[in-house]
Amino acid sequence: MEYGPIPSSKFEEVIQHLRHNFPDEPLNASVGLCVHGKPCELLEHHDLLTLQDGLSVMAQDKATGEIAGVALNGIARRGDVEKALEEMKTIDNIKYQRIFGLLNSVNKTANLFGKYNVDKIFELRILSVDSRFRGKGIARELFLRSELIAEEHGFKLVKVDATSLFTQKVAECLGFTVEKSVKYGDYKDENGQKIYDTKSPHDYYKVMIKLISAKQNVG
Ligand code: ACO
Repeated sequence: MEYGPIPSSKFEEVIQHLRHNFPDEPLNASVGLCVHGKPCELLEHHDLLTLQDGLSVMAQDKATGEIAGVALNGIARRGDVEKALEEMKTIDNIKYQRIFGLLNSVNKTANLFGKYNVDKIFELRILSVDSRFRGKGIARELFLRSELIAEEHGFKLVKVDATSLFTQKVAECLGFTVEKSVKYGDYKDENGQKIYDTKSPHDYYKVMIKLISAKQNVG
């Protein structure tokens, strides 16, 4: 496997990879925002904006050059979450609102900018490995390399919205700690029905962080 940054010439291929593989993400799978192999405009807009931050990393199969996995990393700035919560009101899509409503509201409560006194956070936003290559440590390697990129760019704080138990395992193993933890099953609609019927073992969404002790933090 070969690891490296994602040039703009690869953005379309990354989107194709995500179309086929990211719908397995537990929240997505539970609310059905994106479907395997089909364009998913609302999420892909976010993906492209994140790719443009130039901090993302991919794994390519050496033999075929195919993308085996990606970590899409972006910069989160103070006030972004509040802005996103406002913008969400203009998007008439209940599935989108359920996913981003949860992520944004939990992040708002976490208040990482205030707690750690930073203006920028390195966000590991989308972690995806091709289903044919899973369970071989690719996510772990993408995570590790993302952390190095954060350090090189002088970030003080790395954050991941770990919606999958597998992401939580990697993060924990690399020294991340839990800032917020919510149980999917606790969220019910007005009829008492579960909003997020995530598949076992993905029972929790955790906001996890790691402080980077680089010499040149510009946090
Ligand atoms: N069953 C049990 N454990 C598993 C499985 C599995 N099917 N797959 C991975 N794991 C465990 C591994 O054992 C490892 O834990 P350990 O360190 O305690 O041994 C950990 O999860 C990570 O294993 P990797 O091999 O590095 O993970 P992989 O390369 O398979 O990728 C990923 C994991 C990215 C979650 C992949 O399953 C995937 O793309 N899923 C669909 C999209 C998704 O859910 N992405 C993450 C959402 S959170 C986010 O995007 C920030």
